[in-house]
Amino acid sequence: MTQPLLRLEGVTKVYRMGQVEVPALRGVDLTVDPGAFLAIMGPSGSGKSTLLHIAGLLDRPTSGRVLWAGDDVTSLGAARLAELRGRHIGFVFQTFNLIPTLSALENVELPLVFQGARPRERRQRAAELLAVVGLADRQRHRPGQLSGGERQRVAIARALVSDPQLILADEPTGNLDSAAGREILEMLRGLNERGKTLVLVTHDAEAAGVARNILRMRDGRIEGEA
Ligand SMILES: Nc1ncnc2c1ncn2[C@@H]1O[C@H](COP(=O)(O)OP(=O)(O)OP(=O)(O)O)[C@@H](O)[C@H]1O
Ligand SMILES: [Mg+2]
Repeated sequence: MTQPLLRLEGVTKVYRMGQVEVPALRGVDLTVDPGAFLAIMGPSGSGKSTLLHIAGLLDRPTSGRVLWAGDDVTSLGAARLAELRGRHIGFVFQTFNLIPTLSALENVELPLVFQGARPRERRQRAAELLAVVGLADRQRHRPGQLSGGERQRVAIARALVSDPQLILADEPTGNLDSAAGREILEMLRGLNERGKTLVLVTHDAEAAGVARNILRMRDGRIEGEA
C-alpha cells in the first residue's frame, strides 16, 4: 500500500469573531495519495478554501490531525511548517497573488530566494519554468503588463519552481475567460500526467472535469464522491 502524501483526520475549524463562533469545517477526513488529481466542489461558504489552507499547512485545524507523508504535523511550530510548505507544496490562487513591482521572472524566483538559492541558479530555474508555461518571451513583464491567463501561468510557474510534491489550486480559473481557463486546466492536467499530485478547488463543473476524482463539500463536511 502506498503511503498517502497527505491525510486529514477529523479536522474541524471554528473561526472566532469576537463573541461569535463560525464553524467552517465540521469533521473532515481526506486522503490525498501520491499522483492524485482531486477536485473539491461545493457551494460558496461550504469550507473549501478553509480546507485547502489547512491541507497546505497555511492554517491549523481547531481539532483533528494533519499528517504529511505519514508524520503528524498538526502541532509543529510555524517555522517548521513554513519549511515543509516551502519545500513540498505549491499554491495557485484565484487572484494570482503576484507581486506587482516584480517582473515575471522575479516573481517565479521568489520562493527560491526564501530558500537561499544562489542568484544565478534561481534565475536559470525561474527562466526554465517560465518556458514550461509558454512565457519565455515575457520574463521582464510585470504582472500589470500581462493578460489574466498569462498572470496565472506565471503563478503556476512560481508554484512549480521548487519542484513541490503537491500543488493546491483555489479557483485558479475563477478570474479567467473560458479560453484562458481551459488553457490553465490543460496545464494542470499535464502536470498530473507527469506525476504531480494536485488538489483543485472549483465552482466550475468543467474545471472539475479534468480531475480524476471529485469530492463535494456542503456545510463544512465532505459529502462523498460524485
Ligand atoms: N478568516 C475568517 N474568519 C471568520 N470566518 C471565516 C474566515 N474565513 C472563512 N470564514 C467563514 O467560514 C466559512 C467557510 O469559508 P470558506 O472560505 O472556506 O468557504 P468556500 O467554500 O471557500 O467559499 P467560496 O466558494 O465562496 O470561496 C464561511 O462561512 C466563511 O464566512
Ligand atoms: Mg473559497
